[in-house]
Amino acid sequence: MEHPSDTDTAGGDHYIPPLRFHWLTPFYDGVLRLMSENTLKSRIIDEIELKPGDRILDFGCGTGTLTIMLKRACPDADVMGLDLDARALAIAKRKSMESEITIEFFQESISKPYEKSKITENSFDHIVSSLVLHHLTSEEKRQALKGIFELLKPGGKLLIGDWGKAANPVMRIAFLTVQLLDGFKTTSGNVQGLLPHFIDEAGFEGTVERHTLNTVFGTFSVYAASKPNTF
Ligand SMILES: C[S@@+](CC[C@H](N)C(=O)[O-])C[C@H]1O[C@@H](n2cnc3c(N)ncnc32)[C@H](O)[C@@H]1O
Repeated sequence: MEHPSDTDTAGGDHYIPPLRFHWLTPFYDGVLRLMSENTLKSRIIDEIELKPGDRILDFGCGTGTLTIMLKRACPDADVMGLDLDARALAIAKRKSMESEITIEFFQESISKPYEKSKITENSFDHIVSSLVLHHLTSEEKRQALKGIFELLKPGGKLLIGDWGKAANPVMRIAFLTVQLLDGFKTTSGNVQGLLPHFIDEAGFEGTVERHTLNTVFGTFSVYAASKPNTF
């Protein structure tokens, strides 16, 4: 089931807001708490060896929870968030200000030239992305992963947390809630377990599923991969 009229565009780029409808965005953080958000996002952070001075990008940062957790985990790292949705970014900026944490947020697409910002090719040590790829069609997943690949330094690390292959029939049924909200076209590759295939296709190496966690909305998987040193 698709709801094309409920997607949006920013700077010519099409995207789906965090809970598909803009009016639901203020409730996004509350919904995420239902699925033990901090535990899931901590699993992503645990996989990153953060060092002072590292440049880290949170692609599709939404309301900024993971971005803020990253900055807290390594205050001397240069943490940035990127998202197309102005309303989600406004919440992210408010939350970081309230936490007295300095993070730069950019309203940009991952697959555009970035002349005017600090989002430049071969410049990031780590790129993380949580719950974004299931908002993208197969072709958009390919483009986004290609964009991430270009932004990472050679040897840079990619960490993705998103809906993965259902661990059991109960998880498969639970995931129907997400599919009914976000649409089947963007979510079917996730539940078929195809994310590692898309990551490999973009040129990454060592792609591995590090964690699977069962939640009220389905199985959440954490994938790690690296950009080869030779690029
Ligand atoms: C479900 S939210 C996830 C937010 C956050 N990463 C999290 O884990 O809570 C998906 C986010 O991806 C953003 N998004 C979708 N397509 C995008 C694109 N092509 N470029 C940048 N952001 C995108 C949406 O605006 C939304 O904020």
